[in-house]
Amino acid sequence: MSLLIHKQLCLIVTGGIAAYKAPELVRRLRDAGAVVKVVMTAAAREFVQPLTFQAVSGQPVHGDLLDPAAEAAMGHIELARWADLVLIAPASADFLARLAAGLADDLATTLCLATAAPILVAPAMNRVMWEHPATQANLVTLRTRGVQAVGPDSGAQACGETGPGRLAELPAIVAAAEHWFSGGELAGVRLLITAGPTHEAIDPVRIITNRSSGKMGYAMALAALAAGASVTLVSGPTALSPPTGSVIKRVTTAAEMYSAVMGAVIEADIFIACAAVADYQVAAPAPHKMKKQGRELTLTLIPTRDILQAVAARPHPPFTVGFAAETENLIQHARAKLTGKGLNLVAANLVGQSGTGFDSDENELHVVWDEGEKQLGRASKDALARRLISVIAEHYRAKHPARA
Ligand code: CTP
Repeated sequence: MSLLIHKQLCLIVTGGIAAYKAPELVRRLRDAGAVVKVVMTAAAREFVQPLTFQAVSGQPVHGDLLDPAAEAAMGHIELARWADLVLIAPASADFLARLAAGLADDLATTLCLATAAPILVAPAMNRVMWEHPATQANLVTLRTRGVQAVGPDSGAQACGETGPGRLAELPAIVAAAEHWFSGGELAGVRLLITAGPTHEAIDPVRIITNRSSGKMGYAMALAALAAGASVTLVSGPTALSPPTGSVIKRVTTAAEMYSAVMGAVIEADIFIACAAVADYQVAAPAPHKMKKQGRELTLTLIPTRDILQAVAARPHPPFTVGFAAETENLIQHARAKLTGKGLNLVAANLVGQSGTGFDSDENELHVVWDEGEKQLGRASKDALARRLISVIAEHYRAKHPARA
């Protein structure tokens, strides 16, 4: 599986003839699983149309630092935070100089100053410009700041000369980008995640279920993949597409989810129970559609098995993480679940408020463990999932240093 899977790459295209190769680079990065947002300098726009990049990246192309629409939301800062890696390809001699000088006079240079993400450059220019002491000195400056370079290659150049300065071959650029992620927080770790609601049949057409959308569990799977983990997702009925690269096991009932988890848990290093599993199932679902009787109807419900508790009670349990959705006394209830079910971590959120929790795009999480707790704040489920995966990775590594 590619290390670029679900990685967020910001590709800065600068002005040079090799810019014509950049749309193909976007395609290859996306084939490797990356999400690519393109930023073009003014000179790059003279070589390739932004529309080309928009089409191949499937994302809006950014170019203007002073775009009022984007900057209303501090677009350049948002982009700088969004990127897992900033890749500059092709990187012109002029851009390397501006980067080395720390300029911030356009979106591309501002982004490079504002980001905490690593920066990878793929220089491309005329061989004399490449060999010029000014360019070489800029490269040294950039390297001392942690910027890495891939290429340039030697060979025939667009200007008719032969020598160093050709843009590195595209597979080499993709491999260099992948290299940054070879030490992901969960590289080599196997995760098993449950997500979504369950459906418990009353009769062949009626069910008991809950308002879980599965978004948090799917976001956790995505964030785990991005951190280098391999992921098996046991999902109840949802309308979501499973993240590319995950193994998906679809189930309907709590009993099916229990069996799917128990069948897969032996191969898991970490188990995260995001699913909103029904606590009860109908004792005897009717084999045929029940006809209305016009009088009171009593359904007998029996408890389902607690999947999370069963996993934690295994002789050699994986690192086990539960969720606690509560309407009051959040921390107390979360701690009761932590000790009651014998878990390593509990991620707790308040439900019953508008805008967070079930079926919404945002959430607010508080993580508790034996000796401590951490507030992860309120954010989109995707952003929170990344924060939570980071906390889980830190605790998992502390418990299993030998596997780090
Ligand atoms: N869970 C599970 N299997 C179940 C029920 C719950 O794996 N049959 C998991 C959920 O995925 C979640 C955690 O247990 O990670 C908490 O679920 P919740 O239903 O809130 O807790 P309960 O133990 O059922 O307690 P209560 O409903 O009283 O709050």
